[in-house]
Amino acid sequence: MGAHTNLIHRGERPRSSGSVPLTTPIYETATFVFNSAKDVERYQDGSLQAFLYSRYENPTIVAVEEKLAALDGAEQSLVFSSGMAATSTALFTLLSAGDEVVCASAIYGGTFHLIEHLLPRFSVERRFVSLEELSEPDAVIGPKTKLVWFESPINPTLRCVDIRRVAAACRNAGVLSGIDNTFASPVNQQPIALGIDLAMQSATKYLNGHSDVTGGVLSGSHALLDPISKARRLLGGVMDPQPAYALGRGLKTLPLRVGRHNANALAVAQFLEGHDAVERVFYPGLASHPDHDIAKRQMCGFGGMVCVDLKGGQAAAYRAFDRLTVIQRAASLGGAESLCSLPILTSQYGLTDDELRKAGVSRGMMRLSIGLEDVEDLIADLSQALGSDGSDGSDG
Ligand SMILES: Cc1ncc(COP(=O)(O)O)c(C=O)c1O
Repeated sequence: MGAHTNLIHRGERPRSSGSVPLTTPIYETATFVFNSAKDVERYQDGSLQAFLYSRYENPTIVAVEEKLAALDGAEQSLVFSSGMAATSTALFTLLSAGDEVVCASAIYGGTFHLIEHLLPRFSVERRFVSLEELSEPDAVIGPKTKLVWFESPINPTLRCVDIRRVAAACRNAGVLSGIDNTFASPVNQQPIALGIDLAMQSATKYLNGHSDVTGGVLSGSHALLDPISKARRLLGGVMDPQPAYALGRGLKTLPLRVGRHNANALAVAQFLEGHDAVERVFYPGLASHPDHDIAKRQMCGFGGMVCVDLKGGQAAAYRAFDRLTVIQRAASLGGAESLCSLPILTSQYGLTDDELRKAGVSRGMMRLSIGLEDVEDLIADLSQALGSDGSDGSDG
C-alpha cells in the first residue's frame, strides 16, 4: 500500500455481522473484560492477543501507532501523552548511570532542560556540542557516549544537520542516534531511511495538525522500542484514546497540509527577505540559508517554519508581534492557524545570554509557524506589522 493510502485506511475496526465502521472507533475505556481466568493467563503468557489495561495498550492507540510506523518507514511506533513524554521516556530507558548523551546545544528548550538539569540527577553525563562540532560527527563520539541526540531543522533557527553523516558515524561507533523530527514532519524528511535509529516527534504539531491535541511519538526497530514500550507502562506517559483518535484523523490529511505549509512558508520567507525592517530570514528553502545544500539533499520540502531576525532587536520584535492581526500570538506550531512566538519568551525562555548565543537565538527573533490560510493575507499582515506607520510596510 502507498504511504498516503496507509494513512487513510490503516486502523483497528471491530467486525460485527456483515459490516464494519469506516473509521477507527474511540475505545474510551480504561480496562478490558475477560471471559475467564484461563484467558487472562493466556494473555499474560502471550498466547492470547487481547487488551488488559489502557495504560498498557488500547485498540485506538494501536491503530494510530500502525499508521505512524507506516508513515515513518519504521518497524514500530509508540505514542505518548506529549512530545516531552516521548523524549523523556526514550532517554530514561536508553541511558544508565555513567553513560553519556551527546546533544546538539541548539535544541528545543524543554529537551535542553531535561538533559541539562534532570538527567545528571541520575548520574547520566551529558555533553552539548555546537553545530560545527556536529558537522564532524566521528569526533564528537567519546568512549562513554551511548546516544547522540539532535534536531533538524533546529528550533528556531532552522539550521540543518547532515543526518546521514551523524547516523553513519553513530553506527560505525556502535552508538545510538536519535532525532527530533518535529519541524520537518515525515512528509518532508525520513530520518529512519537516512539511517537514524530513533525518530521522535511532538505529535502536537504537524502530525495532528489542528492545535487541539498534545502528543508525542517514537519510531524505530522492535528491538529498540521494546524496552521503551515496557518503560512507558511504568512511567505512565501513554496517550489517551480520544487524542489518539484525533491524531489518526489528522494524519489522513498530513501530506496535503504539509504541501500547503511548505508553499505558504516559502512565499512568506521570500517576502520577508526583501523587507527593509528585516535583518535576516532563516528558512532552509532559501538559497541564503547556511544549510540550504544540506536541506536539499535530505528534505523533499522545506517545512512551514520561518524565523526572522528584525533590525532593532527586542523592541522591534515586541512591536511587530503586538501588531499582528491574522497571525496569532501563540506558542507551538504545525496547525492550520499561523502562529507567531518570540523564542526568548517561549522555547528559549530563561536561557542565559551565553546559552542563547549557543542556540543561535537573538532577542530580535520572531518565529512564525505558517499555517494554511491564503498566503496573501499572511503577507499583508506581516507587511502592516513591520510597517513604520501601522498601515502598510510594504515599501519600508
Ligand atoms: C522541536 C520540538 N520538540 C519537542 C517539543 C515538545 O513537544 P510537546 O510540547 O508535545 O511535549 C516541542 C514543543 O514545542 C518542539 O517544538
